[in-house]
Amino acid sequence: MKIGVFGTGMVGQVIAEKLDSLGHEVMLGTRNVQQSLAREEKEGAGRPALKSWMAAHPKIAIGTFAEAAAHALLLVNATSGSGAMEALKAAGDANLNGKAMLDISNPLDFSKGFPPSLTVCNTNSLGEELQRAFPELKVVKGLNTLTCFLMVAPRQLPGEHHIFLCGNDAAAKQEVRKLLSTFGWADNEMIDLGDITNARGTEQLLPIWVRLYGTFQDPMFNFRIVRAQKPG
Ligand SMILES: NC(=O)c1ccc[n+]([C@@H]2O[C@H](COP(=O)([O-])OP(=O)(O)OC[C@H]3O[C@@H](n4cnc5c(N)ncnc54)[C@H](OP(=O)(O)O)[C@@H]3O)[C@@H](O)[C@H]2O)c1
Repeated sequence: MKIGVFGTGMVGQVIAEKLDSLGHEVMLGTRNVQQSLAREEKEGAGRPALKSWMAAHPKIAIGTFAEAAAHALLLVNATSGSGAMEALKAAGDANLNGKAMLDISNPLDFSKGFPPSLTVCNTNSLGEELQRAFPELKVVKGLNTLTCFLMVAPRQLPGEHHIFLCGNDAAAKQEVRKLLSTFGWADNEMIDLGDITNARGTEQLLPIWVRLYGTFQDPMFNFRIVRAQKPG
């Protein structure tokens, strides 16, 4: 499938290389292709700079956000929380309308250091803001509550553990579930919370996620939801 991945950072790269390995036609979206390829500093977690990473993945294309959206039948948003709205605006309604978008972004504000705070919460969320601004785009919030290294390889942790999906469009959520099952997620590990307002809940997991990360000094953990056995 033709998939557009917005974001050239660590998450965009990890998702794109997984999709590429599964045979999808992937295009990364960025603000300015030349400037992004000229970046010399390594990406997060010591990953290679974009240009050398692209050289190691010759089938992955790169374009502007508009080009990546035009290319895609399915979209993934892995931009920073502060840049997500601008990225979607740059992609343009015509290239977004009618498509499903898995939105991994989190509204984190690192301006006062670690741990970050949320720029939007309680009665609103970034997922909802994106959905409101682009009503014809089918936003599915998901994968935002664990490290990208587990998003694409959940079996690295022992036993059952969970991710959360929410969005207004049932068919779009189904499309995302199907894709994530090819990453290794079992059906019962993908918990559908309902409509996009539930992004308030999953984005507000980030304050505890970042503290667990600070405590463990290791991102390779996830949430496991344990429920009581039903009688009978
Ligand atoms: N790190 C994880 O494992 C993890 C886990 C769960 C969720 N997340 C979420 O995933 C997202 C991506 O994280 P990341 O660490 O890979 O990258 P990041 O540094 O948070 O974001 C990088 C991307 O955001 C774009 N961007 C930044 N400012 C922008 C602006 N003003 N307008 C348009 N685009 C803008 C950049 O565009 P250019 O390409 O043009 O530079 C780049 O593609 C974040 O929202 C993060 O909270 C991360």
